[in-house]
Order: sequence, then structure tokens, then C-alpha cells
Amino acid sequence: MGGPRSLFVLPLLLLFVVLSQSTVQAEKKSYVVYFGAHSHDPKEISLESEQKVANSHYEFLASFLGSKEKAQDSIFYSYTKYINGFAAILEEQDAKQIAQHPNVISVFPNRGHKLHTTRSWDFLGLERNGRVPERSIWGKTNYGENVIIGNLDTGVWPESESFGDEGMGPVPTEWKGECENHKDSKFHCNRKLIGARFFKQGYLAFIGSQNTTRPADAIDSPRDTDGHGTHTLSTAAGRLVPSANLFGYGNGTAKGGAPNARVAAYKVCWPPVDGGECFDADILAAFDHALFDGVNVLSVSLGGLAGDYFEDGIAIGSFHAVKHGITVVCSAGNSGPDAGSVANVAPWILTVGASTLDREFQADVLIDDTKMHIKGQSLSASKLPAKKFYPFISSVDAKAADVSEVDAMQCVLDSLDPKKVKGKIVVCIRGNNARVEKGETVREAGGVGMVLANDESTGNEIIADAHVLPATHISYSDGVALLKYLNSTRSALGHITAPETKLATKPAPFMAAFSSQGPNPVNEEILKPDITAPGVSILAAYSEATSPTGLDFDKRRVPFNSESGTSMSCPHIAGVAGLLKAAHPGWSPSAIRSAIMTTAIVRDNTHRPIEDSSSHRATPFAYGSGHVHPNRAVDPGLIYDLSPNDYLNFLCMLGYNSSQIATFSHPYKCPETPIKIEDLNYPSIAVPNLSGKVTLTRRVKNVGTIGTYQVHVEEPRGVSVSVEPTKLEFCRLGEEKEFKVVLEARNDASVGDYVFGALIWKNDGRHGHHVRSPIAVRPVGQKL
Ligand SMILES: *[C@@H]1O[C@H](CO)[C@@H](O)[C@H](O)[C@H]1NC(C)=O
Ligand SMILES: *[C@@H]1O[C@H](CO)[C@@H](O)[C@H](O)[C@H]1NC(C)=O
Ligand SMILES: *[C@@H]1O[C@H](CO)[C@@H](O)[C@H](O)[C@H]1NC(C)=O
Ligand SMILES: *[C@@H]1O[C@H](CO)[C@@H](O)[C@H](O)[C@H]1NC(C)=O
Ligand SMILES: *[C@@H]1O[C@H](CO)[C@@H](O)[C@H](O)[C@H]1NC(C)=O
Repeated sequence: MGGPRSLFVLPLLLLFVVLSQSTVQAEKKSYVVYFGAHSHDPKEISLESEQKVANSHYEFLASFLGSKEKAQDSIFYSYTKYINGFAAILEEQDAKQIAQHPNVISVFPNRGHKLHTTRSWDFLGLERNGRVPERSIWGKTNYGENVIIGNLDTGVWPESESFGDEGMGPVPTEWKGECENHKDSKFHCNRKLIGARFFKQGYLAFIGSQNTTRPADAIDSPRDTDGHGTHTLSTAAGRLVPSANLFGYGNGTAKGGAPNARVAAYKVCWPPVDGGECFDADILAAFDHALFDGVNVLSVSLGGLAGDYFEDGIAIGSFHAVKHGITVVCSAGNSGPDAGSVANVAPWILTVGASTLDREFQADVLIDDTKMHIKGQSLSASKLPAKKFYPFISSVDAKAADVSEVDAMQCVLDSLDPKKVKGKIVVCIRGNNARVEKGETVREAGGVGMVLANDESTGNEIIADAHVLPATHISYSDGVALLKYLNSTRSALGHITAPETKLATKPAPFMAAFSSQGPNPVNEEILKPDITAPGVSILAAYSEATSPTGLDFDKRRVPFNSESGTSMSCPHIAGVAGLLKAAHPGWSPSAIRSAIMTTAIVRDNTHRPIEDSSSHRATPFAYGSGHVHPNRAVDPGLIYDLSPNDYLNFLCMLGYNSSQIATFSHPYKCPETPIKIEDLNYPSIAVPNLSGKVTLTRRVKNVGTIGTYQVHVEEPRGVSVSVEPTKLEFCRLGEEKEFKVVLEARNDASVGDYVFGALIWKNDGRHGHHVRSPIAVRPVGQKL
């Protein structure tokens, strides 16, 4: 009897599948349609020319949708200034058809990107004990005066003292930006914060298609309700604010990299929804406006997965920026230490990893008087009574009923049994939930303190957090030792000392475990990240619309907060780029990047090679060229420059044809004989598959003194490197010289692994220069 029934069921199921497929097809989503550049000269942008462009977008889309009304309804952004394209709500079928049109470079879904979340400048040598030394780039540029730094982020807290305008001259007359405060009358710009805009159509379009309810705090204002944008913008260019601290810790004068630069906030990130928080369509709109407004440098501490450059709002926007002489600095991402995790890898972007400062907020764990003494770090506002000892327990031993062992180990909310935790200090393991949330779990269960121990993957990377109870963070190996001791005794008593700010700690810097690493997942021939800068426990201005931990249960409000991430290291480099722009207004974005990269240092403050968070030697896949050294960057001697045409040639190498590339620059023809990607005049060298011998070309431009440079090579293990010529003589400023680098795998090369070295041009005159490029090469054996 079962036969007929199952026969009946089968067609129904099929019908259901077919039906749901057709609803998927009819489903509309937001897309970006990208045409390249406009034919108009950006200097001649007028309301009229912009309307003409918008109209051409309507007509273009109408030819697919059947009517101009439909086209107008579906387009929610026309990019009319620098970037040529539009964002629209489309059916997938239509999007696919549009992508076939010969004038279209790309059509891609409006995807979400994620945010990559004061002593720094002293550590970077810009000042010594509060005084600006003579050689400081600050002294040479009057703190970056006359430069405008824009930030694509969560907006800005305009009341922050870091954006005060005392003593600043009038807003530069060329500035075309605006302060979009018509729906937030309390939001004011000034002579420091000279512009603030917000872009949310892409966010709303995404939410609409997802049927997600719109978060209440997605306000119509560039005001920062998150804290991230205020933190990053003030790191890049905040003014000098004395007595800045978090709960008294890190007390000192807060300041950004270019304290006298003007700043502009472009809010593109909104309360997170499933799918992201900063959407491509909004990012492109922000770039288009920022270029028009007149920024000199853009700082972008967000990103997604690396992929096709022209299917990514950040890569497209920064391509147009760099073409017009504007430097774009991006965070490398917080997906480290996995290989190939680096984001924002386009060769026109300056990509920044994160490392530690030489400052610690030390809070130690003491067990059984002084039986164990473990160094930790914390920014807890509350502390335990001095010398008072409490019972210690591992969170696993305090597991609540019906909770998994892993959840208890990581102290996720409600995973601990109050009966076992009351009055005790609990050891929790890092991973999964927010570090500060673990403390909240302990506090709610009646615990008096928390020790947060790293897991194996985070090693020695210790972050000082604003915990909600007395707490401290310790390394993996210390955590293992502590748990072992607790396991050996039933009655351990312990104490967590109150945090103390310690300066000039060693070794520093070392790479943060979270910092995303190379090799470059898109074009392995371009080494990424480019550079590293401080990104661990960075104190900077914050939004007072939220708490220092960003968690709902935390009701505290602070004007300055400590944050960690490549989001924090990126604006350090944006600030330095601003200073270099002030010192050398004529330099291209590639020249600025080259200066920052070739002057970087690869040793820490103990004069040993920079390490990773597990005390192993770090590689250029972690730090690129090394740790930024701003005072040297201002006078690099030689630069590896790249013109917009070099980037167009690069696109030819990727397979874009002349007619596609002509949309960026007319007239343009791809070179007759194809150029190798490895020959892009980048300030670093990466050869992913070395079999036999390869010859690369580079050219350097003299921006320093007249004189002779001699080459020095640090050969990667098993690879011979020869340079021709070995000497470069420069008779005048601006002179360019070409040289060849020949890499050849030797018999002792270990096949299949990357090995690292460096190429250095040295000029040992009175103002000697060392122009250093890292080499990453992977021998793959001889061709058979
Ligand atoms: C360039 O590529 C586009 C898209 O694939 C194609 O439509 C066009 O005909 C090509 N042009 C040339 C000159 O090959
Ligand atoms: C969104 O919700 C509306 C009304 O609740 C519904 O009609 C529509 O089908 C939903 N759309 C999607 C994509 O789920
Ligand atoms: C911070 O330092 C300043 C200047 O040294 C001092 O006046 C102030 O009291 C300090 N604040 C705190 C909270 O330690
Ligand atoms: C704790 O000790 C017991 C035996 O004394 C051992 O079996 C167990 O593996 C130990 N656990 C840890 C985490 O060290
Ligand atoms: C290098 O070789 C690997 C393995 O054959 C290959 O997957 C990869 O695409 C090559 N990379 C480049 C840039 O040629």
C-alpha cells in the first residue's frame, strides 16, 4: 500500500523545489554596476554634468528593464563625480545580462565589509619624553598642517576634544566638503573637523532585501554611535589632548599622527547585520564624494574577503583615488595568523598589519603568596583589595549543568555555576566570545575576578581590556602552567594586582597574532601586507554613545578608549602618509608608500629580528617591509615610484583588454609585449614559483642627495640573488635608474617553502640612506 503514496509524494516535492527556485530567481538584490571612469575632467564637475551622467545611467538601465521609470525606481546611487557606475536593486537575471554589456567593467552584489577593530608616537620616534626632537617629521611638517585626512568608518563623535579647532586657521579654500547635520542639529563641524557625511542607501537596500528589521541606532547623521570611527580618525590626526586616559591608565597627552591636519568623516558603517556592516554601494559613494571634496589621504579600517579587484568597493574606490594622487591606507584584517588571510591587497593600496607598542598595562597573578607570579595585562577599572587572596578555580571545574565543557572553558554567558564560582577568581580561556564578555560571565555568577588565558593560537598576544571586574590577561604558556598548578592542588589562593602603566617594555614591537598574513591570495607576486604599525591596546578618542567594551550590559561612557586591531594600526600609517604629503606635496601615493616601506625597521627594541606572538622570528608575510619609522620615511633617499599608467599596465597583465582599460584613461593601449606582474615597480619583491632562474626589473628615483648607492643583498636560504648594476650613481635630483635582479634557486633550496631575504641600496654619506626591500621567494624545483 506504500507504493502509490510515495509516488504521490515525489511529484509534490519536485513541484516545491521548482517553485522555490523560481521565487529565488525573481528575488531582487542590490548590485553595483561599474563602468570605470567618466569621460569628463573631474575639475569640470557641475550639477549639470552630474545630472547628465545620472540620466545616462537611467537610460542605460532602461534598455534592460523596459522603461526609464523602472530604472529610476531601482537605482539608489549614481556615481557621477570620479567613479562611473550606479547601485541598483535588480533581479539576478538582469544583473547577469547587464554584465555582458561591452561598456560594463563589472556587476557585483552590494556586499558587506567588516570593521577591522598615545604613546604610539613616542614609540615611533616622533617625540622623546614629550619633546619633539629636531629630526622629527613633526617638526619638519608643522604636524601635518594643510593636509586633509578622510576616514571611511562609523562616523565621528564631533564633541571629542581630539577634534577641537583652537588655534587653527580658516578651512582651506579648495575644500568642497560638507557637514551633513540637517537631521542632527547637535552635530557641528569646525576648522579641524571640516567635513562629515553619511551614506546608508546601500545598507538599507541590503537590509530591505534580507527582511531584517532596521536597527534603531541607524541614525541619519554622521555621528559615531559605535566608537570605532572616532578612535581611528583621532589616531590618524587627533589634536593634542593633555591628561587623556582610560580609568586613569595610560595617562598622557593623546594625539594623532598628523595633529594639525584637517579631518573629514565619511560614515559608511552601520550597526552590524547578518552580512556585514559597511556596504560596497555606500563605500563607493563615500570615495566618490571624498575625492571631489578634496581629501589628500584616506584611511579605511575595514574590509572583506580578497577577490577580484573590480568586484570590491574598496579596491575600486581606492583605484580612482590613487589615479588622482590620493593615498589610500587600509587595514590588512584580523584573520591572522593564518597564511593567505590578508585583505585589501590591490597593488595601489597601502596595506597595514598590526604589532605591539612598548607599553603595557601590567596586572599580575599571584598564587599562594609568591609560589607563582605571572605577568598579565589589564585595563580593569576595578581592583581587588591589596594583598587579599581568594580561592582560584578553572572555569571547566565551575561548569553549570547542561552546558558543554567548551562553553564553560571559554566562559560564554551563563555557562558557569554560581555555587562553584561565588567569591572566587576564575580562569577562562580565550576564543569564541568577546574577551570582556567572559568577565561578565564570571561577574554574573558571583566571581570576584577573572584570569583570561590565551589558547595556543594566540600565544603571547596579550591585550589590555576594560574588563568589568578585576581581571588580567596572560599568555598561553603561563595559562598552561597556571592550570597545571590548580589541578595539582585543591586549595590554591590567588590575587590579581591592580593594573600599572609600564613603559619601554621589551621586546617591542612584536606581531599581533590577529594580524592577517600573506601570501597575497589574489596576486601572489605582490607582497602583502606592506607595513606594520601599532595596533594593540591603542588609546584614542571614543564615542560617548557607547561603552568602552561595546557590550550592552556595560553602561560606562569614556572619552578615550583602548582598542586593538589592524583597524588601529591603519590610521597610524594614514597619519604618517599625511605628514609625508605635507613634507612632499608633489609625491605620488606610490612614492609615499615607497618611502614608508623602504625605511621600515625589521628589528625590535632589543635589536633582534621582530618576532611573532609565539616568540618565533616573524616574516615579511606578517610585517611586509617592517615596522614604520616616520622620521626616516620623510627622507628615504630613493623611491620606487608607480604612475597611473603602471597600474593600467598591471590590469593588462591581469587580462583586461585595451577597450576595457580605456574607460579609465583615454587613449590607452596595453603594451605590445606583455609585462610580468613581478616587474611592477613595487618596493618589495615576491616570486611565488621560482623554477630555475628569473630576472626582475626595478627602477628607483633619487629624491635625496647626489651620490652613489651600492647594493647589499641578504640572500634567502637556498636562493642566489644577483643585482645588475651593483652601483647606481645619481648626478641630480629626480634622476631615475633601472636595475635587474636575478634570482636563482640553488641545489640546497628547500622546494615548496617560502624563504625570505632583502635587497638594500646603501649610500653611506653624511646623510646616509638605506633603501630596503624585502624578498619573498618560493623555489619549486627545476622544470623537467
Ligand atoms: C574586451 O573585452 C570585452 C568584454 O569581454 C569585449 O566585449 C570586447 O570586445 C573586448 N575588446 C577587445 C578590443 O578585444
Ligand atoms: C519580506 O517581508 C514581506 C512582508 O513581510 C514579504 O511580503 C516579502 O516576501 C519578504 N521578502 C523576502 C525577500 O523575504
Ligand atoms: C594625568 O596627568 C596629568 C599631568 O601629569 C595630571 O595632572 C593628572 O592628574 C593625571 N590624571 C590621572 C587620572 O592620573
Ligand atoms: C589534572 O590532573 C589529572 C590527574 O591528576 C590529570 O589526569 C589531568 O589530565 C590533569 N588536567 C590538566 C588540565 O592538567
Ligand atoms: C604557483 O604554483 C602553484 C602550484 O602549481 C599554483 O597553484 C599557483 O597558481 C602558481 N602561482 C603563480 C602566481 O603562478
